[in-house]
Amino acid sequence: MRHPLVMGNWKLNGSKTVVKELIAGLRNELSSVDGCGVAIAPPVMYLDQAKHALSGSQIVLGAQNVDVNLSGAFTGEVSADMLKDVGAQYIIIGHSERRTYHKESDELIAKKFALLKAAGLIPVLCIGETEAENEAGKTEEVCARQIDAVLKTQGAEAFNGVVIAYEPVWAIGTGKSATPAQAQAVHKFIRDHIAKENHAVAAQVILQYGGSVNDKNAAELFAQPDIDGALVGGASLKADAFAAIVKAAA
Ligand code: G3P
Repeated sequence: MRHPLVMGNWKLNGSKTVVKELIAGLRNELSSVDGCGVAIAPPVMYLDQAKHALSGSQIVLGAQNVDVNLSGAFTGEVSADMLKDVGAQYIIIGHSERRTYHKESDELIAKKFALLKAAGLIPVLCIGETEAENEAGKTEEVCARQIDAVLKTQGAEAFNGVVIAYEPVWAIGTGKSATPAQAQAVHKFIRDHIAKENHAVAAQVILQYGGSVNDKNAAELFAQPDIDGALVGGASLKADAFAAIVKAAA
């Protein structure tokens, strides 16, 4: 039996005041939620402040990226051990914004996946096709390739206890979510793809949907059998909207 997870990806948004007020709002709205894991990933600058603000709540701390190096002369980077040190648990990797703007490859992301697991952190592996790939009928091919970078090098067992977020790039920040049926079809494909290697691992992996999820469309998406919660961008910056999404998954 899988437990859904709703995670907020704040991206490059926030300030000390926003962290304080948004987390206070979330604690207030989500004081008694059962049946759904909740996590937030503020910018790395605010992780420590957020960890303190979350103290004693059920909301778990996450982060938006990790460097592939463990320590040393890598100016501006943040390591897995540092994220662990400040109390982050769910770490987003392979977000399409990192793949696009920072030219992160499938291989680099697979290395990050392995080092997070070795550090005892939980990768939230983002995958998904662009609009052009979607229109060319390449959705499954792209998702398979992005999953295979881990599957073929680390084995299906590497997906034990991790999260995969299917985020079609054309749905991110556009207000144009995939329909529940479209998302379900891709989620089923992803689960079946892993199941070809290991059924038990495929059955337990959390498959989040991401891309213009809001308080109006969440319930219908979560009603799909292979959609286990969401990775939420814009709507995670408003306590009431994010809480409504969590409640739709619980
Ligand atoms: O990681 C979350 C994401 O990219 C979706 O963003 O704003 O469409 O919910 P948004």
